[in-house]
This record gives sequence, C-alpha cells and structure tokens, in this order.
Amino acid sequence: MDVEVGTGADDAARSLAPYLMHRRRGRSFVVAKIAQSLDGRVAGADGGARWVTGERARADGHALRAVSQAVGVGAETALADDPRLDVRDVAPPSDPPLRVVLDSTGRVPATGALFDTGVAPTLVCTTEAAPATVRSAWEGAGAEVVVLDAASDGPGVDPGGVVEYLGGRGVLQFLLEGGPTVFGSFVRAGLVDRMVLYLAPLLLGSAATAMFGGSGPAGLADAPRLTPTGVTRLGDDLRLDYDLQHDAAVA
Ligand SMILES: NC(=O)c1ccc[n+]([C@@H]2O[C@H](COP(=O)([O-])OP(=O)(O)OC[C@H]3O[C@@H](n4cnc5c(N)ncnc54)[C@H](OP(=O)(O)O)[C@@H]3O)[C@@H](O)[C@H]2O)c1
Repeated sequence: MDVEVGTGADDAARSLAPYLMHRRRGRSFVVAKIAQSLDGRVAGADGGARWVTGERARADGHALRAVSQAVGVGAETALADDPRLDVRDVAPPSDPPLRVVLDSTGRVPATGALFDTGVAPTLVCTTEAAPATVRSAWEGAGAEVVVLDAASDGPGVDPGGVVEYLGGRGVLQFLLEGGPTVFGSFVRAGLVDRMVLYLAPLLLGSAATAMFGGSGPAGLADAPRLTPTGVTRLGDDLRLDYDLQHDAAVA
C-alpha cells in the first residue's frame, strides 16, 4: 500500500524535530525567541526592553515556553530585566520549564526573580571562573549549579556544553530568550535550530541594541541563510518563523 504524504507532512516533521535532534545527536533542539523592532533592535538606547511587543505576541511567547522543557537567558539579560521566565497567560504545563541562567563568571546575584525557585526550578550554567562563594549562594537559594567548560572563542559558557548537558537531562526543546550576545554565540556555534521572531511596529535607531551580537559574516555571501516557515499576525505585531541551516558559514 502506498502511503500518501499530505500537506501536513512538513508540519509533522517540524513538530518532531526536537525529538529527532535529541534521539540522533543527544542534544537539545534550540529555538531562539526574539522580540524586535522593525529596524532589528531588541532594547532601547536606554537598555529597556519592556515591552517591545504587544499582549498577543507576549502571550504567544508564553505558549512557546509552555512547550519547551527549558528556557534560558544570558547574564546581562538576567541583570538588566530580572525576568521570571515562567509560563503565564496560557494553560501551564504539568511541569514548568527549567529556567537556565548562563553566567560563566558569577555576576548574577542569587536574589532576583530567577532565584525564586517556588515559581519554577532554576539551573545556573557556569564555569570554574565563578567564585565558590557565588556558587554556594546560588545553591543556597535553591538553584542547581553545573560547572561546564568556558567558550573557546567568545564570552561565557561553551554553547555546545550547554545543549549537551540539557540534552542529557532530557530537555528536548531549549527556548533561548536572549540576549543578543548569547544569541550571536549560539548562532556562530551552529546551535540555533529555529528562530521565532516577533516583529513590532517600532523604530528604535542605531543607538539601540541590535538583535545579533558579536562578529558577523564579512559579506552577504557568507551570511547564514534562514528558511522562512511561517508568518502570523498577532495584533499589531508579526510572528516570523525560520529554520536555520547549519552548513552556512558565519565568521
Ligand atoms: N527583545 C528581546 O527579545 C530581548 C531578549 C533578551 C534580552 N533583551 C535585552 O538585551 C540586553 C542584554 O543582552 P546582552 O547581549 O547585553 O547580554 P546577554 O546575551 O543577555 O548576556 C551576555 C552575557 O551572558 C554570559 N554568557 C554565558 N554564556 C554565554 C554564551 N555562550 N555566549 C554569550 N554570552 C554568554 C556572558 O557573561 P559572562 O562572561 O559573565 O558569563 C555574556 O556577557 C538587555 O537590554 C535586554 O533587555 C532583549
């Protein structure tokens, strides 16, 4: 009997992608979620990022969290925004996603919303560069702490070590919520598999923070090409979905 491959085949393959990544490579599938202005900025010149998008886009972002087993941010975002990274405005999953802080040097104090572990569990991915006193304070606040290798070619924790560690803990989908420095280093490492971009009708100018941090390709020919997979209007904002191809070279 022939099996007919219908129009839902692409959707089915896309929803299976995190599971297949985990089975085949043992690492988490990384979805980068970014809210940005029309001119590609994720925070104003004053550093403020609340709120780039409207309510419907933010609720959609919470739905993305609800289908992820872990949700992560870099140290600067933890310091600047004091995010809760919990699931709100949508039906909560039975287990809240693990909140992941990437802080290689121990800069994020154990006092912010991410260390209210009654809300959801928290994991700090750090390196030997973080002082033992800071690691103890994180643990004292109820967070788990894992010491991984430092990145070999940029700031922070080795991105490959992070996704392998999370994969080892059964995290199929890791929602990476920024900021731009973390996003840039995961893209350069070929470790962003999908991108969900919320595009807001704002213009923030060149003094505002660009969405892709660190070095980029020398020219257009070397730029990573993303495959668009969906466009959805959410109030005044647009949600744009992309898959990334990992054979593209990024300087
Ligand atoms: N609109 C949005 O969607 C959105 C989302 C998030 C943030 N933001 C905004 O973005 C700004 C913060 O972004 P940011 O780029 O300055 O900082 P970031 O990406 O949040 O954090 C960067 C820091 O994280 C640490 N880190 C740990 N592992 C890393 C890795 N593998 N790669 C890179 N960094 C790693 C490094 O500090 P150590 O070397 O000390 O470890 C690094 O300096 C804030 O203004 C925030 O409001 C906007």
